[in-house]
Amino acid sequence: MSQLRILGALSILSILFFTFHLFAQVPHLTSTVHHHPPPHASSTIARCESLRAEAGPPKHFHKRSKSDRFVGGTKPLLVQRARIWTGGKNGTEVISGDILLDKGLIKSVGHLGRSAIAAYGDDLVVIDAKNAWVTPGIIDIHSHLGDASSPALDGAEDDNSLKGIVQPWLRSLDGLNTHDDSYPLSIAGGVTTSLVLPGSDNAIGGQAFVIKLRSTAERTPTSMLLEPPYNINSSFPDPNLPPRWRHMKHACGENPSSAYQDTRMDTNWAFREAYKKAFDIKQRQDEYCSHALAGKWKGLGQFPEEYQWEALVDVVRGRVKVNAHCYEAVDLDALVRLSNEFKFPIAAFHHASEAYLVPDLLKKTYGGTPAIALFATNSRYKREAYRASEFAPRILAQHGIKVLMKSDHPVLNSRYLLYEAQQAYYYGFPENLAIASVTSNSAEVMGMGHRIGYVKEGWDADLVIWDSHPLALGATPSQVFIDGIPQLKDPHVVHKRSAFQDTPKVPNFDKEADEAVKYQGLPPLAVKKRSTPTTIFTNVKSVFTRSSDAIQTLFSAQDESVLGVVVTRNGSLLCSGLHTTCSEFLNDSHATFVDLEGGSISPAFVSFGSPLGLQHIDQEASSNDGYVYDPLVQAVPKILGGDTAIVRAVDGLLFGSRDALLAYRVGVTSGITAPSHYSFYSGLGVSFSLGASHKLEEGAVIEETTALHVSVRHFSNPSVSTQIAALRRLLLGPSKGASGHWFQKVKEGEVPLVVEAHSADIIATLIILKKEVEVEARKTIKMTITGGAEAHILAKELSEAGVGIILNPSRPFPYVWEDRRLLPGPPLSRDSAIVKLISHGVRVGIGCEEIWSARNLPFDVAWAAIEAGGNISKEQAIALGSVNVEKLLGVEREDADLVATRGGDVLSVSSKVAAVISSRRKSVDIL
Ligand SMILES: *[C@@H]1O[C@H](CO)[C@@H](O)[C@H](O)[C@H]1NC(C)=O
Ligand SMILES: *[C@@H]1O[C@H](CO)[C@@H](O)[C@H](O)[C@H]1NC(C)=O
Ligand SMILES: *[C@@H]1O[C@H](CO)[C@@H](O)[C@H](O)[C@H]1NC(C)=O
Ligand SMILES: *[C@@H]1O[C@H](CO)[C@@H](O)[C@H](O)[C@H]1NC(C)=O
Ligand SMILES: *[C@@H]1O[C@H](CO)[C@@H](O)[C@H](O)[C@H]1NC(C)=O
Repeated sequence: MSQLRILGALSILSILFFTFHLFAQVPHLTSTVHHHPPPHASSTIARCESLRAEAGPPKHFHKRSKSDRFVGGTKPLLVQRARIWTGGKNGTEVISGDILLDKGLIKSVGHLGRSAIAAYGDDLVVIDAKNAWVTPGIIDIHSHLGDASSPALDGAEDDNSLKGIVQPWLRSLDGLNTHDDSYPLSIAGGVTTSLVLPGSDNAIGGQAFVIKLRSTAERTPTSMLLEPPYNINSSFPDPNLPPRWRHMKHACGENPSSAYQDTRMDTNWAFREAYKKAFDIKQRQDEYCSHALAGKWKGLGQFPEEYQWEALVDVVRGRVKVNAHCYEAVDLDALVRLSNEFKFPIAAFHHASEAYLVPDLLKKTYGGTPAIALFATNSRYKREAYRASEFAPRILAQHGIKVLMKSDHPVLNSRYLLYEAQQAYYYGFPENLAIASVTSNSAEVMGMGHRIGYVKEGWDADLVIWDSHPLALGATPSQVFIDGIPQLKDPHVVHKRSAFQDTPKVPNFDKEADEAVKYQGLPPLAVKKRSTPTTIFTNVKSVFTRSSDAIQTLFSAQDESVLGVVVTRNGSLLCSGLHTTCSEFLNDSHATFVDLEGGSISPAFVSFGSPLGLQHIDQEASSNDGYVYDPLVQAVPKILGGDTAIVRAVDGLLFGSRDALLAYRVGVTSGITAPSHYSFYSGLGVSFSLGASHKLEEGAVIEETTALHVSVRHFSNPSVSTQIAALRRLLLGPSKGASGHWFQKVKEGEVPLVVEAHSADIIATLIILKKEVEVEARKTIKMTITGGAEAHILAKELSEAGVGIILNPSRPFPYVWEDRRLLPGPPLSRDSAIVKLISHGVRVGIGCEEIWSARNLPFDVAWAAIEAGGNISKEQAIALGSVNVEKLLGVEREDADLVATRGGDVLSVSSKVAAVISSRRKSVDIL
């Protein structure tokens, strides 16, 4: 036996001995003999007593007259004439009045007497809200802000440790970057507080922390924390302090499975093994304490604990808000069983795409039904999320289950967390609960409802003044207060029509919501109903059509009481206008009549920017077309023609994906997609119908080849200069093979070259290259930039060079270094990037980042118009999502679909698509 093995055996023996010793003592201690207390008795007794204390604020918390986060010198502030959503009465209480902020607290809400105001003297800052909406600060229950920093840099990925599938001892606080570009951006969206969770690559990823987003004088992560647990800087906190809520991240399903090459079975065993350990420590502690508190000290030894496990022990003591990332019924079921086996509560299930299908299961969770934290429409990116439904919030609410909306920042930009609530509201989540889902209810679920999430006397002075009703699309803060400190310096406020101040009217989705449950998340989406040859749309308020390169108004009712009519035959417009104009067509006894109830007909939207049409489920290779070879980074097989091969997206089209059909149903009826690629080289784009069920259907493929696509980005390899060199050679070098053929067409100005580029430096280089090619070819070439986060910097130069931009995303975010010089738009800048580019005469289109987001293009377009404060006309706005996209991406055909919307035009959230009118397919689909 080697020395090492002897030592090993000894240590095992000593563990056995110790364990035996510990348990062997217990029976003796049941005697009633009292022994002399050891020197540590009083601290041990305090510690034992503290184990019984429940987490939460101290008893007299609301007697505080000053916030622990108050910054000396902050002036008292009065917000006058506000329309205040308080969070009270289940989120239904709205008060008109004033709000007084002082010492980091809300000192009063309602009407403040003159004498109270006078008492503050000249120090008081007065803000007239002019009847604007005021809500509590927006609270994000699921963020990685600071830990998964933006722009993403290799040196700052601090949200997933892969050192073990169970690591309750890790703390997101330890990775919190105070220089994340997102802080000011998210504040500009009204976010004041976020729960920063570790990532989801572990079953137990570690402890989470609540932060307020404002910068602090100390400039430290610790100074950003809200009510941090005392153990952040102390191994043995003062047991007399009432414990504060702690937070922990758990994750089920695909993420831990793929990070550890495990199965769900392995992950759940990892959970059970860890919980058993924590549960046993807790039992030993409780047993120890029952003796200590009874004064039976003999042989009791030290308080049993294992430092690594103390946080999980606190979980089984019910003093930690467990936030569990679990999607499917299979995962939720496992965690509900786990909670019952080890008797610990779960604060919230996050993502929980199938929660709405298993409400009774959720109610069986130990300690009460968890809240469900959801995205509104971000779905289907992996199997776990495939059955997610936009109707989940309303369905869960009907079961009395608390629903929160969350960003998972930077997965979604938390600047727009309120947009998640707006979408949920659009699909039927009640107004009061929608606002509460990002304010009061998230505060409660975090265990912070005693101080944030409400506009209430004594609560933290975290408020947002909005430029519209908070559930109106595009609602933007005109001021944000955190701890009573105004966060926006010289905010740019868009003045909105009074209609934006009212609760938005939204369509009825009762039938769709019922079907979501009936079909377990997969309701049939294919369009079954074709109209008769003649379709007559009545009560039409406006008609927009497209010419070769713009949108124009064909008809617009002057008066609500005299609405128009539109007659179509075989998918083509026959007549539109007042009844008298079209009377000769109205007596067709076989016509189908569609009442648009004041709605509109306008050109359909076109999706570009994601692999829509080449994917069903993003993260499932077997459901996707796959990726092209890139001759710049690898050898292309000879059978393909080697380096000169060109791939056509049309050859890989997959029809009938759920994302395509969902987009179709909201009026995004076609897609333009380029071959999926990892780096530089893509191939030929295609334009196709999103409503078709297969390629051979009439009108399924609109144009087989549209434009030639490449990307020039800061991939680590090869360099940007190498990519530009390759592009120059392809354009100016000897033309060979298939790629030679297509680059020749680019050179002759026949086919656009579409380059994904984000950085202004790369875009400038591309403008120079374009001129170089034009001098050589003596032709004007067509070039379009997609992405374009920094394009606004070159608005003038792009306009002069005749280069158009597809902005993707349409509301920018500093994902990576090359995006960071973005133009944020109101309230941080007067112009949005779209307004700036348009005002310089650049043709702009709006892109869709991922396949699920194609369905949100109508919202994106409407938002761009709202944000422009009237500086973009309705026609220009519709063009952003339709004709401009086609023009910029090389679609020549002009027989675009039309969309009929009921109850409003295509830019209004009160409308719903009633029909798609397709002259290409010579038919009208009734939805
Ligand atoms: C809160 O509001 C929701 C939706 O409006 C309603 O269904 C629920 O019953 C209300 N809860 C209470 C306790 O009033
Ligand atoms: C330790 O953290 C607590 C907050 O949990 C804070 O109040 C205290 O000042 C900190 N102590 C030191 C020495 O930094
Ligand atoms: C409409 O389509 C039907 C069936 O394809 C055809 O018989 C009819 O002639 C068409 N009508 C017009 C006006 O094109
Ligand atoms: C409809 O009415 C117009 C005159 O108003 C007439 O010319 C036409 O023949 C009628 N069509 C049918 C199908 O009755
Ligand atoms: C719209 O244009 C006007 C006049 O150029 C300008 O004053 C205003 O600030 C612009 N609004 C936005 C939101 O850009």
